[in-house]
Amino acid sequence: MPVIDIHNHFFPGAWPDLAARYGTPNWPWIKHTEPGKADVMIGDRFFRHIYSACWDPQKRLEEMDRDGVAMQVLSATPVLFAYDRPAEHALDCAQLFNDAALELCAQGKGRLRALCQVPLQDVDAACKELSRSMRAGHLGVQIGNHVGEKNLDDPGIVTFLQHCADEGAAVLVHPWDMFGQSRMPKYMMPWTVGMPAETQLGIVAMILGGAFDKLPRSIRVCFAHGGGSFAFLLGRLQNAWQHHPVARGLCELAPKDYLNRFYVDSAVFDPRALKYLVDTMGAERVMLGSDYPFPLGEHRVGELIRSSDLPQHTKSRLLGENAEEFLNLSRNAAIESAQTDKASELASPESHQLTYSSYLRVPELLQLQHPQSRPQHHDELLFIIVHQTYELWFKELLHDLDAVVANLQDAGKNPESRDEVYEAARLLRRCTEITRVLVEQFTILETMLPTHFLAFRGKLEPASGFQSEQFRELEFLCGLKDEKMLRYHRPTPEAHAQLERRLKEPSLHDAFFEALCSMGKLQIEKNASERERFDARARAVLSLYRDEPSHRDWIDVCERLTEFDELVVGWRLRHIQLVERVIGTRMGTGGSAGSSYLKLTLDKKFFPELWEARTLLTE
Ligand code: HEM
Repeated sequence: MPVIDIHNHFFPGAWPDLAARYGTPNWPWIKHTEPGKADVMIGDRFFRHIYSACWDPQKRLEEMDRDGVAMQVLSATPVLFAYDRPAEHALDCAQLFNDAALELCAQGKGRLRALCQVPLQDVDAACKELSRSMRAGHLGVQIGNHVGEKNLDDPGIVTFLQHCADEGAAVLVHPWDMFGQSRMPKYMMPWTVGMPAETQLGIVAMILGGAFDKLPRSIRVCFAHGGGSFAFLLGRLQNAWQHHPVARGLCELAPKDYLNRFYVDSAVFDPRALKYLVDTMGAERVMLGSDYPFPLGEHRVGELIRSSDLPQHTKSRLLGENAEEFLNLSRNAAIESAQTDKASELASPESHQLTYSSYLRVPELLQLQHPQSRPQHHDELLFIIVHQTYELWFKELLHDLDAVVANLQDAGKNPESRDEVYEAARLLRRCTEITRVLVEQFTILETMLPTHFLAFRGKLEPASGFQSEQFRELEFLCGLKDEKMLRYHRPTPEAHAQLERRLKEPSLHDAFFEALCSMGKLQIEKNASERERFDARARAVLSLYRDEPSHRDWIDVCERLTEFDELVVGWRLRHIQLVERVIGTRMGTGGSAGSSYLKLTLDKKFFPELWEARTLLTE
């Protein structure tokens, strides 16, 4: 599961003197104080101590590895918004920092992405800069929760948000320019008190001001710092809405009915607050946001979610799955690959040709390995890649075996035609060759010393081969349907549903013997017992072998099915040998007794009748 942090910040290591550039005072500038450390100043005033993670991609990546973060979506800081400055200065400033963000991301090995900023005081300019930034590679935009006196329900801002929806841009709303500062001169109160209230104001303004009613459902907006005080005080808002006509605002629904229209991040720093937030907003609406690398951010990114009592599937949602939806990462990956195609199109005279890399999605594929050990253990990459290749081959096996089932069903419908039988045998031969590779492949993993595996095994629990959906699908598809195994897939509802479908569908075993029935080779009495049915099926196979000249094609299918069965048992055996070589007779991470449990599976056969027929043959 990819861990994605959607709220963190950067400052470039250097930027032009903005006060001189625009001829106005009090712009942010950076003062390097010692190697790897700097202060951000606003005019003569100290603003914040920062360190090299703000500008050094290597440092960021190291700390991401330390914290198990796969991707950061970084944004500049609100002190650079400049919404209170002339729009042309705010636009120029936005462009400087938007381009700097992409330069930083370019050195991030695909793990750093960015949100742009825009001159929100000028809606046209803001829309144009958003479009330019999206084309350049930003995933969306970070905006402040107000522009001077204008809240987020201001018609101009709603127009801008509509443009974000049209462009497919994710929107992160960050509090800034906190009110009441004259009463909060000390103790960072603008950050600890003002910011949560500003964010709450942003959400309430959007709801009561009718902004969500005007905007399409496709708009993806997230409010920073858990949405500030919003969730905790939603009851108060709801109560006012119900009992005070003046508190109703312009919205069509009650405030609590808008919770599925926006996201919040997880930066609340208290497990009880996080739990309450998830209870209120729903597990689909909270995403990892850390405020890294600032002192008020989470110091071990993701720790709050990981150490919470939330169920594993909720943690997965919060740590990355929700962010994938919020950022529309699958669509963005498609756009990137289209952009790669475009670049190669321009570079090559043979236009409209796919590249090797875009066709095979190589960049995406190479992004999918996320070791969990810290510091990263050298052999964990091998462990991940070997498993991933098994899963890819499982996918191909399911693809081919589904086609074999369809061919056998067609063969049954049209016993005169030989094409489908031939095709079934041809594809089964491919399946046996793939399985032969799968048996062999364990040797690669056996180059890993048991001590090396133990060094990161603790990180895997409770993940286990029991949860390989495709392996279980293969068993079900071939005819070994054990409903009890569904319990390992409860945390992943899609996998559970897919396996339930497989349970109901005709298996390869069913399709093969149905075809023999249609050919008149197999008759089973309606009231026959299980044993009698089994014997009848075995005798039907026997009858094929006894008349070889008439049934060469069907015998070929039988031989391929037998070989496949044999190779799968071979796979089970080699897996057990690997398990014993690496962890001896220890328990498995999935909670089974380990190798002694796995040995019980050696007796499993997909087509026992094919084996029985051999016993029945006489000279
Ligand atoms: C260091 C290497 C490995 C070890 C120590 C290991 C260990 C185990 C253990 C102990 C089990 C029993 C379930 C449990 O309690 O977790 C299991 C099941 C399983 N493993 Fe592995 N395994 C390894 C590598 C692999 C690989 C490379 C694959 C390839 C896909 C794989 C696929 C499976 C599958 C599909 C099951 C379920 C088998 C069944 O239910 O019949 N394992 N593994």
